[in-house]
Amino acid sequence: AQSEKESQYILSNFAKDYFHDMLLNHEQGKSIGLPYFKDRGLSMPTIQKFELGYSLEAWDGLTSKALAQGFKLEFLESTGLTIVKEDKKYDRFRARVMFPIHNISGRVVGFGGRTLKSNDKTPKYVNSPESEIYHKSDVLYGLYQAKQGIRSQDLCYLVEGYLDVLSLSQGGIENVVASSGTSLTEGQIKLIGRYTKNITVLYDGDAAGIKASLRGIDLILEGGLNVNVVLFPDKEDPDSYIRKVGDTAFKQYINTNAKDFISFKTELLSQEAEHNPVKKAEAIREIISSIAKIPDSIKRAVFLQRCSVIFGIEEQVLLTEYNKLMKQER
Ligand code: CTP
Ligand code: MN
Ligand code: MN
Ligand code: MN
Ligand code: MN
Repeated sequence: AQSEKESQYILSNFAKDYFHDMLLNHEQGKSIGLPYFKDRGLSMPTIQKFELGYSLEAWDGLTSKALAQGFKLEFLESTGLTIVKEDKKYDRFRARVMFPIHNISGRVVGFGGRTLKSNDKTPKYVNSPESEIYHKSDVLYGLYQAKQGIRSQDLCYLVEGYLDVLSLSQGGIENVVASSGTSLTEGQIKLIGRYTKNITVLYDGDAAGIKASLRGIDLILEGGLNVNVVLFPDKEDPDSYIRKVGDTAFKQYINTNAKDFISFKTELLSQEAEHNPVKKAEAIREIISSIAKIPDSIKRAVFLQRCSVIFGIEEQVLLTEYNKLMKQER
């Protein structure tokens, strides 16, 4: 008999093919799903490359099809594709455009589904739950399609969302992966680290989001990777921005606006602290603790120097503080 994992892989692949077929060949997919992707600027080659799909507005489109094909309800339930409640069973993904999530060997392990409605009580995204084959914290959306590009460019762009990956990839920036809205994990950083030591973070341009992402970015430093950050104008994300300005201007924008993470964080926190000395002291300690996480001692020295220039504080003072912190950590 097949292992539980193998059964889940085979079922997930079947579901991916089913959603893709619904998008391209079913009346609903052709009249609702495909136009949605077209409106968002996605081309057929992109839809094919990422194997995008559509889930019908029906209670059990996938479930009944899969059962009829001999798939066991047990695996439909354990992959989260079917929700079983008392004596009823229904599809988790209904009336959504579908983004299959691949592991690095290209097997489908889960799905994200986006609603087509813009003013509704239904959540914007529904995602597969954890399963034997899907551990959210060990997967990055788009990595399977991006890994060769990451290796050849020796750089990985990290974005928040599915659509950001798709738009950038279509625009010729193929070395791009998404953290899918959650904060980055050590496992995900290790995964990127197999292909490159350089990450450029392209997160959505809203202040709250950026503050929340600082912790996750510290983790990248701890992993010994180099991190740059590009800030987008307010309310823009990489997808909306590349569609607004075009591929060429977008590439130019990220090249001219990329800042190393420590300088980025230093400027951000020093602006916030303004002339408040208490806040300024807090900000400086916070940045020193980020710098302390960098494994390479020469890099640490360079960043301490930069930090001293931005804050207008003697490097010797920063060094004293830094040495205190290093002692505490041991
Ligand atoms: N996300 C999620 N569940 C939500 C909201 C977001 O899983 N309720 C994840 C998705 O992977 C999404 C990413 O977080 O792609 C970023 O969220 P957001 O910026 O809100 O969505 P976008 O990807 O920009 O999608 P869209 O442009 O369609 O609004
Ligand atoms: Mn695992
Ligand atoms: Mn966002
Ligand atoms: Mn978006
Ligand atoms: Mn977004």
